[in-house]
Amino acid sequence: MTDKLPLDRANALYPSLTTILGTKVDGKNNFITIAHVGIMNHGTPQYLSFGVHKSHYSNKGILDTKSFSVNIPGKDLVAETDYFGIVTGKTSDKSGILDIFYGESKNAPMLKACPVTMECRLDRTLDFDTHDIFIGEILETYADPDVVTDGKIDISRVDPLLFDIASLKYWSLGAPVAGAWNAGKALKKKLKSG
Ligand SMILES: Cc1cc2nc3c(=O)[nH]c(=O)nc-3n(C[C@H](O)[C@H](O)[C@H](O)COP(=O)(O)O)c2cc1C
Repeated sequence: MTDKLPLDRANALYPSLTTILGTKVDGKNNFITIAHVGIMNHGTPQYLSFGVHKSHYSNKGILDTKSFSVNIPGKDLVAETDYFGIVTGKTSDKSGILDIFYGESKNAPMLKACPVTMECRLDRTLDFDTHDIFIGEILETYADPDVVTDGKIDISRVDPLLFDIASLKYWSLGAPVAGAWNAGKALKKKLKSG
């Protein structure tokens, strides 16, 4: 027995990182806010997953061009980020809201105002009943120099938006807690496990 409350299978995998995917739909740049994101592996090539409802306008662009960008907005872009998530390209032109740049593909428009962006190639799509799960391979990552420390992305400077579905709010990062692959070392030693 447990005192814990059953929550009717509520998805507890929040917060998640709030991203903006960019693609070209029928020749027009479009941006969509996506928070259902996943890291598929660590290594090269590196794959990312995005769950995108089939009713959205962006899907056609990603499926047609097999190209998209992943933009990581900072806190300062909360209004634009929310806008891309409440307005559809079916009825509104979202192409001119923020300035863009391109990497290799003209079908993966990236947002200059986002401190970090990734250009992706669509590797495969998992066809769920309601959602396309787009799995993209990272072709290149672009970062503003002021969010890079020793060649690595400094997450405290990116100041990303974390999305929580229970509160329906954007949250921000707190302070670091401890070193990963490090905080458990003393316990490992104490328990003398291998
Ligand atoms: C914070 C936030 C997160 C969202 N995350 C997702 C998501 O992960 N998957 C999804 O299909 N829609 C998500 N949406 C909804 C789409 O962004 C929204 O319906 C958008 O207007 C669709 O744009 P489009 O029709 O131009 O493609 C999210 C919206 C917000 C505000």
